[in-house]
Amino acid sequence: MKSSPSEGLLDLVEQLKSKSNLVILTGAGVSAESGIPTFRDAQEGLWSEYNPEDLASPAGFRKNPKLVFDWYAWRRSVVLKSLPNMTHQILADWTNKFPNLTLITQNVDGLHQSAGSKGVIEMHGNIHRLVCCNKRHPSPWIDGNGEVPRCEKCNSLLRPDIVWFGEMLNNGVMSEINKALKQCDLFIAIGTSGVVYPAAGFLEKVKVSGAFTAIINKEKFPFGTADVQLEGLSSQILSVLNDKI
Ligand code: OAD
Repeated sequence: MKSSPSEGLLDLVEQLKSKSNLVILTGAGVSAESGIPTFRDAQEGLWSEYNPEDLASPAGFRKNPKLVFDWYAWRRSVVLKSLPNMTHQILADWTNKFPNLTLITQNVDGLHQSAGSKGVIEMHGNIHRLVCCNKRHPSPWIDGNGEVPRCEKCNSLLRPDIVWFGEMLNNGVMSEINKALKQCDLFIAIGTSGVVYPAAGFLEKVKVSGAFTAIINKEKFPFGTADVQLEGLSSQILSVLNDKI
């Protein structure tokens, strides 16, 4: 690992210029500068007494579907008011610049796509959809009475199309990710605390096969050790990198 930040940055620039199979993993930190609270930020106002990990779970939904639904409706209302920031925009440019870039996000806000990124792998789903009986419902998210809407087919409550704690990722999504990780020669994790599996295991996985690894995060990295670790706001670090490649 490089000892000085500028040395690490230049090293990553060289890697970006020379490697061809990039995998970029993003987390809630990349959307923080768009005004969307990260998952592990303190919950605000009405929601401060709840633990997000209890709300984002099948058990939480079974216990109190309306509470979970309202929490997601609140998060979605924040997302609807937000715009992609510099990090989303630069990564969208990179999807053109690097033809073999795979962008994997743990975020459910859709901001990478709004910025123009194509082929984004949304490993935890998307907050704008509801799901039941293997069918995705883009709307209405809330029914006319403010109640949790029901599935037309089985009459169960519709749920957000999000992978909750304790649930498995969709097989197709996981095999697409594994394929990209296998071929990857440069892996960059941006704005993620790296505590939720399987994403938390990607860095170690690609290291085993010899990929160069980098972490960009606002604070010290709980996410294992990478070849380059850059501490700061993702928009600022990506802007500097982008100017040099
Ligand atoms: P977290 O909230 O756990 O972590 C966000 C990370 O981003 C933290 O380490 C922050 O320090 C960092 N950060 C904040 N602002 C930043 C900025 N401007 N630039 C760079 N870094 C910044 O979010 P995730 O790691 O995405 O899953 O959480 C992973 C998953 O946990 C989420 O997808 C969610 C949750 O369970 C589900 O809902 C299924």
